[in-house]
Amino acid sequence: MQLDHRIRAIQLEKPSVRDVGADTLPLVPGLPTVRDDLRSLERYHSPQLDVEVRLNTNESPYPPPEGYFEALEARLREVPWNRYPDRHATRLRGAIAKHEGVEPESVFVANGSNEVIQTLCLAYGGSGRTVVTFEPTYAMHGHIARVAQCRTVELERSASFEVDSGAVDEAFTHHAPVLLFLCSPNNPTGTAEKLATVQRALLGADSPPGVYTTGAVASERATNCLVVVDEAYGQFASFSATELLGDDVGLVVTRTFSKTWSMAGARLGYLLGPPTVVRELYKVVLPYHLDAIKQVAGELAFEFVDEMEMRVETIKAERDRLGSNLAAMGFEVFDSQSNFILFRTTPTGWGGDDLWDGLVRRSVLVRNCSSWNRLEDCLRVTIGTSSENDRFLDALAQTLESTPTPSDGTKQQ
Ligand SMILES: Cc1ncc(COP(=O)(O)O)c(C=O)c1O
Repeated sequence: MQLDHRIRAIQLEKPSVRDVGADTLPLVPGLPTVRDDLRSLERYHSPQLDVEVRLNTNESPYPPPEGYFEALEARLREVPWNRYPDRHATRLRGAIAKHEGVEPESVFVANGSNEVIQTLCLAYGGSGRTVVTFEPTYAMHGHIARVAQCRTVELERSASFEVDSGAVDEAFTHHAPVLLFLCSPNNPTGTAEKLATVQRALLGADSPPGVYTTGAVASERATNCLVVVDEAYGQFASFSATELLGDDVGLVVTRTFSKTWSMAGARLGYLLGPPTVVRELYKVVLPYHLDAIKQVAGELAFEFVDEMEMRVETIKAERDRLGSNLAAMGFEVFDSQSNFILFRTTPTGWGGDDLWDGLVRRSVLVRNCSSWNRLEDCLRVTIGTSSENDRFLDALAQTLESTPTPSDGTKQQ
């Protein structure tokens, strides 16, 4: 397929439940319709386009270190393949606990941190319960909450994309959330949360109904709240909420093997939090939800901590290099404490869609956030290897020197 056609095909492919639901496909007699509350829900996923440089999904650009696969192969031979896996993932949870400095009872593991979030929403959310997010943020928090039939309230981040104290207070004074999502560093902006913000959220989460502030009262409040800090990119940042964890603190921190640990293909994530919360989560997951391969693969990763930490440092150095280059090219660059950078194209005179097209034509794929609320003309680039980053910068420079190809107005997510 010619590149032009491929871009067009991807644009037309822009997914949503509506695209494949009753609005566009004929109803098949005898088949039920999807739940009413799902009919208008957008599907969430990044487009997969066949390009030479893929910098659109925030994975690690590196495979696991030398020696990892050799050791994995040997360990897999010891897996009793005919038996169900350890349902408590004892060894893996033990390894995570040791690495994070907590007790194994404080660790919950699942198939990616998305499944951790889903389990939280199923256990604590559901009909009539409210989940608060601060936008723009990782779309899956709200998406999963909706699928779990929670009421979702989207509050706004400040102009610099921080969650300010006013927004936190609004959550508790007006919305009585059962789950309040923070994301640090935040995807897609790269902003790290402040200790004071998490502390303020914990104060609200801990207050009995009606006494959070003297002025306003959360009259509908039926339950206290769990503050969820999503730290999928936590290793790239200087702040982690894990220092606030405690057995009687309404805080959970979610983390993933998909980024720092170069294991996005394995789908493995975890939560750190009070053992009482972890016990409740195990009521919701399916029996044997975490397969034996994954348990072994995750446990083994902790034997390569030094190599992984070196990669984090390399990525951070590359992030600083890319950030300075983007600024020098005239883009508005948002501070990032993650393995990606968000930048706005308009100061260069280019629209986000056109610049994204220009990069794809040069076989470089980044995330186009232009159609997301408050992110007009913004692109998000994942930090790749040094040579991938050079390819990205070259493609940008060439695009800026070219004439925009008129876009058909379809926005690529
Ligand atoms: C903020 C955030 N949380 C969670 C996830 C999901 O991670 P996982 O691969 O562990 O499901 C992502 C993935 O991009 C993310 O950006």
